[in-house]
Parts: sequence; C-alpha cells; structure tokens
Amino acid sequence: MPSRLEPDPVQLPSLYREYAEWYPLLTPVGDYAEEAAFYRRLFEAHCRHPPRTLLDLGCGGGHNAFHIKAAIACTLVDIAPAMLAVSRRINPECEHLPGDMRQIRLGRTFDCVLVHDAICYMATRGDLARALATAFVHTAPGGVALFQPDFVTENFDAGTEAGGSDGADRALRYIEWRWTPNADGETYLTEMAYLLRNERGEVDVVHDRHLMGLFPRAVWLELIRAAGFAPLAVPFEHSRAAGHEVFLGLRPGSAAGPAHE
Ligand SMILES: C[S@@+](CC[C@H](N)C(=O)[O-])C[C@H]1O[C@@H](n2cnc3c(N)ncnc32)[C@H](O)[C@@H]1O
Repeated sequence: MPSRLEPDPVQLPSLYREYAEWYPLLTPVGDYAEEAAFYRRLFEAHCRHPPRTLLDLGCGGGHNAFHIKAAIACTLVDIAPAMLAVSRRINPECEHLPGDMRQIRLGRTFDCVLVHDAICYMATRGDLARALATAFVHTAPGGVALFQPDFVTENFDAGTEAGGSDGADRALRYIEWRWTPNADGETYLTEMAYLLRNERGEVDVVHDRHLMGLFPRAVWLELIRAAGFAPLAVPFEHSRAAGHEVFLGLRPGSAAGPAHE
C-alpha cells in the first residue's frame, strides 16, 4: 500500500503525452455521438438564448466537440499539446488553445462551457474550485456550464472494465481498474493497462496511473454555487449509464431575459 497519494500538478498520465496517438483507439470518436447529443440538448434547454459558442476545457481528443461543432462553434482547450494535436486532426475548423483549466483566462465568454470527464483530474477541492471559477468567468450571462465527473462519492464503483478497438494497421486493448488509496480521502486511482499492437504486429504493455478527485454530490453543488452559478443536477440519459448525474451551472443574467433563479 503506498503512502498517502497526493496529486502531482505537473505529471499527466502518459496517455496524454507519449501515447496520445493511441487515444482514438482507446475511446473511439463514434462512441461519443449519443452523449454529445444529450449535452447539446441540455445546452439548448438551459441557455437563455440559442447557444452559438462553446468552450471545451480539457477537450482531450475532441471527441465530444466532433459531434457538437456543426451546431455550436467550439473552442478547445487542453493542458496536453499532444492531445490538442490529436483533436486538431478531426476538428481542423475549431480553435485549439493550450491551457490549464485551473488558470486559463481567455478574456471572452461563451454561451456554453463543457468540462467533460477531464474534470475528474481535479483531485482536490481547491483545484475543483479553480476549474469551476474558470468555467464561470468564461460563461456568458444567461449561459450554461456542464460538468461530467465519472463518479461522485455516492456512486463510486471500484470496478474493472476492458475495451479498446482496431485501427487500420494498429490496435489497442485496455484494462481499467479503479480503487481508492486513502480510506478517508477524496481521490481514487484509475490503473490502466494498455496493450498496444503496432503495424508490425508487435505488442507493448504499458501501465498508466490516473489520479482523480472523488467528491460528495453536495460538495459539487456547493462549489458550483460558490463559483457564482445556480447549480443543477440532472440525470445522465445514456443507454450505457445508469444512476449518474450531470452537473450544470447556470450563469445568472441575460441580455434577452430575466436572470436564472
Ligand atoms: C479523457 S480526456 C478528455 C476526453 C474528451 N472528453 C473528449 O471528448 O475527447 C482528459 C483530458 O483532460 C486533460 N486535462 C487534465 N488536466 C487538465 C487541466 N488541468 N487543464 C486542462 N486539461 C486537462 C488531459 O490532458 C486530457 O486530454
């Protein structure tokens, strides 16, 4: 058992650095169509005006943006240059910017802000509050921010999963194993093992550790409120997920209508 694990502010999982090219095989873009359609419906339902612009913080491979960009112009931010390169390939028409969601300030606002599963990398309440503050300052009055943690404390599943896919000449399979290292803590670890088969049929095995935040539902709602939003939790509607919620932050005010309650 390791001693108490604390987030490393610099070191990202190798998936987002030297193995970024393999990311589209780990979680193919086509798999995101259903959830991206759900996020788009939420933006359209909760934004006080028709949403035209979206900021995706922690965009990764840009797989959600790929399905949203035809309806809402997307600006994509990620801390990992290698992931921005992967996203640029499928989203060449979108603006891509390097940045840390805990600090970046673009000096402009967007109708919608999406912080998808990248929000899981906020491994302390302080980092989560900083990311929520970033979302708030970039959300236009009457706009909406959406946060999608994989788990909250109440629905955490210390489980194991497997997946992957085949590319034209390469293939990837993975095992994902989640556990909580600190019984009293607010983090969990996702241990990933990747099997990477290259063009020559050779297979490499890589272990990659992802440290993630795990906070009670009430803490999420409280921190979203503290950032300045009106918080809302809505059931995640997806054919392969049950018992999960999406958090929204509604930014008060609107050029066209009254403020959110
Ligand atoms: C699982 S990927 C996101 C996938 C994305 N939802 C998609 O649609 O493809 C997580 C991403 O979060 C990024 N990330 C982690 N910490 C970050 C931070 N502090 N600021 C910005 N991006 C961050 C990683 O570099 C990685 O690209």
